[in-house]
Order: sequence, then structure tokens, then C-alpha cells
Amino acid sequence: MQLPESQVAVLEAANADEATPVDALAAATDLPPETVTGAAFELEEQGLVAVTERVDETISLTDEGRTYVEDGLPEVRLYEAALEAGADADPVPMGQVIGSSGLEGAEVDIALSNYARKGYGSIDSGEIMADPDADPAADPEANALESLADGGTLEAGDVLDQLERRGLAEVAESTIREVELTEQGVTELMAGVETAETVGQVTPELLTSGDWQDVEFAEYNVEADAETVEGGRVHVLREMSERVKDVLVGMGFEEMDGPHADADFWINDCLFMPQDHPARTHWDRFALEQPTHIDELPEDLVERVERAHREGVGEDGEGYHSPWDEDFARALALRGHTTSLSTRYLSGEEIGEIEPPARYFSVEKAYRNDTLDATHLLEFYQIEGWVMAEDLSVRDLMGTFEEFYAQFGIEDIQFKPHYNPYTEPSFELFGTHPTTGELIEIGNSGIFREEMLEPLGVDCDVMAWGLALERLAMLATGAEDIRDLHGTLADLEFLRNAEVTY
Ligand code: PHE
Repeated sequence: MQLPESQVAVLEAANADEATPVDALAAATDLPPETVTGAAFELEEQGLVAVTERVDETISLTDEGRTYVEDGLPEVRLYEAALEAGADADPVPMGQVIGSSGLEGAEVDIALSNYARKGYGSIDSGEIMADPDADPAADPEANALESLADGGTLEAGDVLDQLERRGLAEVAESTIREVELTEQGVTELMAGVETAETVGQVTPELLTSGDWQDVEFAEYNVEADAETVEGGRVHVLREMSERVKDVLVGMGFEEMDGPHADADFWINDCLFMPQDHPARTHWDRFALEQPTHIDELPEDLVERVERAHREGVGEDGEGYHSPWDEDFARALALRGHTTSLSTRYLSGEEIGEIEPPARYFSVEKAYRNDTLDATHLLEFYQIEGWVMAEDLSVRDLMGTFEEFYAQFGIEDIQFKPHYNPYTEPSFELFGTHPTTGELIEIGNSGIFREEMLEPLGVDCDVMAWGLALERLAMLATGAEDIRDLHGTLADLEFLRNAEVTY
């Protein structure tokens, strides 16, 4: 019989009474493992070999694990230093024991967080005690590290879990395929197998010479395992942002655009945010050092905004009766929300007067001096939006969110009454995290109040919102920590594989 070259090679290298792993066949035939795998599957289909699969686990030490094999586990070193200092009899000040232990930097924390857990003693108000009965030589984690370093292996269980959690050992899974000749394979080999001249790839030479018409082409096996190729892909957040834009455009919205660094006037004053509001202090905002102030503001608008702040709007309007300073309003900062774009557009500053009905949105960055944690970043994307129409109610607002979030499979939005200086009524939005089940805040919204709209020259209703793109991404992808999405701690595996569906 005739077979393509790689299949002949694999068939000849395979054995009838012993299964040979693909790697060994690759070495024997001088072919890449994926070619051997492909050939093996082809041969299996013809009944010439049998391919079996098993999943192999290999446990290896990390760099940190290897260091501890050399130097000893930090908690053991702490225990030994504590014994030396007599902490088995009386408590000894921590500083003294740490000093003599030689532990440094992160090792100190590691030692402290494992010391009591593993029964080496206790730490109380800055003093350390050592349990005289503890036995470092029997430390299961230390012994497991030793044995791994010696090429041994480790049963699955608490010790392995602990080493993995501490980042001292890693378990890698791989699929091992083995190939064994079948009886039919042996028969064919004995009868003689020849190499068929098949062509795996069309080359320029084949095309120009016309030979492509006569050669036999090898068949593709689209099911054969191949090496994972990690190419580039659009970042989850970018993908999310594009989809949000698609959805909003589909709902009839137009896009707004504008400066990241803007005058406080547009960011706050136009929103009827009093100048002494806590969010306007340097604690929350990133001020610009150079330039410090915007050059130009529309004079009559400044006047109307100032009047709204000082005296209020309408018959019952009170205003804040607090100081209002134009210089303060001209100060530049990174926008703390993209509602600055909404004030620019609503005022007519960007594209002239806008007639109702109108809908606008942006998916742009906002900057806040927050504390970084699982749900907060210092810069994040806001999905800003507003609808201008003659008669709007809370039902319209809720209905819009329900329609929007349903496009991402989120059907359980909850609303909580809230306060913003510029909206009345106001609502915070919450969604349930798909894996933790936790309620997380995903946005803030409301109906713009008279004190804000009148100075801007808008005399119909405007409902508006700022939603967090990263939080939507967490709900849609199941990410549990916003820092997995971007920044230095981003989880590459997650970014490679996360699906953004809608
Ligand atoms: N600016 C608000 C925030 O950043 C969002 C918002 C916009 C709320 C418009 C109401 C109206 O939280």
C-alpha cells in the first residue's frame, strides 16, 4: 500500500507490543510532534494503529519553592530564630527575632502568616512565642518541597494544595498520546508500505511549472491536535466598549466626544455641583499642573450658571447661597465623570442647539482618585448617556436600562434611590455577579433637575446616566476582580480566553 511520507515514518517507528508516546515517535522519526499526531490519527482511521490518550500531571517547583529548598521555609527560619532567642520559655519581642532570623522583605510577612497556622507558636502584641514541641524536621510542606526537588512526586491532597496556594509548586496537565500498531498495521507493514508522493502545500514552483495539476495533495485532518498559537486579540474591555456602542447606536443614540482634561465648569458647575462639594476637593480629583486654567468659557452661560448656584432657579429655587468663584470654575482637571460631555452638548457648546427628541452617549474614560481594589480603578470607562424629550418619567429611565442590559444577558437589574446634586429623582443601579452572586453597583442615573437644565438653555426633560463599563464587563464575563482586566495584575489567561457575548 501507499501512504504519505509522515505516515510511513510513524507506522515504521510504532510498535506492536508496546504503545509509544508521540514524543518518542517524534524523536525517532525526526518529525514535529504535531505532524506525528496528525499522521497517527490518519493511520488510526485506516485501522493501522491504535491511539490512546491519558492526562498526565507534572508537579514542578516554582523559583520561590526552589529558594526555600535551599534556605528553608521562612516560618521554619522564624521558629529556629525564636527558639534560639528563648521564645519557648518566655515571649520575645518580634523585632529581635526577625533581626536574628535573617528574614528580609516579603519573607517576613510570609513567615508571619504561616507561623501560627502550622503550629510553630503564637504572636501576640508584638511578641513571639515558640512551641517547644513543634518539629521543623517533620514539616510536611518542607518535606514535600525536598522530595519534589529530588525529582519525586506528590499525591494530590492538602499539602499539594497548600504549596500551590503559596505559589511554591505548580501542577501542569498535559495530554499524552500513545500509538500502537494494530494487527492490520503489522500485516500491511509485512506486505510492504511505500511512500506516496503527496504534496502538503502549494508552492510558487508548483504553480508556475503547472505540476500542481498532476500531483496528489495530502488531505487535511482538521481534527488533529495542534499547538496552541497565541496571537493578538482585541482586549476584553475594548471589545465590550465596541459592543456597547453598537447596542446604543442600535437604540438610536449618537456619540459624544470631548476633552479628557476639562474645566471644572463643565465637569461640575454646569451640573449644579456646589463649589464646596466634597467631590471637588483635591482628595478626589486629579488637578492639572500645566496649564492650570481653561482659556475660554462662554460668558453668558457662566453668568447663568453662577446665578443658578447663588439664587436657584424657578419660583421656589433657593440656590446654595454659597460663594461661587469663576476662577475656581476655570480650573482644569482630569474629568471625574464623562457627564462633562453631556453638559457641553446640552449647552449647545459642541454642536449647537439640540432639539428634542434626542439621544446621546459616550463610552469614554473618567479619572478618580479612588483607592484601588477589586471593584475600583483610578481610571475607568463610563458609559454616559442621556435622552432629551418632552415628557420623561422614571419608567422611561428604568425601561431604557432594562432594554440595554438585556442585550448583554443581564435581566435582573435592581434600582436603589440615590442622591446627585444634578438629578431628581436619582437611582443607583445594581446587578448580580454571575459567579459570586454579590450585588455590585453598575451605574448611577436620574432625571436632570431644573437648576441644571435651565442655565444650559434646555426646556424639556432630560434623563441621564453614567454606567461603569468595567463593571458591565465583570457581569458579562464573570471576572471577579476588576484588576484582572487591566493594569499590572491583569490575568493574561483570562484576557486570552474571556468571551464577550451578547
Ligand atoms: N455622573 C454620574 C457618576 O459619575 C453619573 C450620572 C450621569 C448620574 C448623569 C446621573 C446623570 O456617577
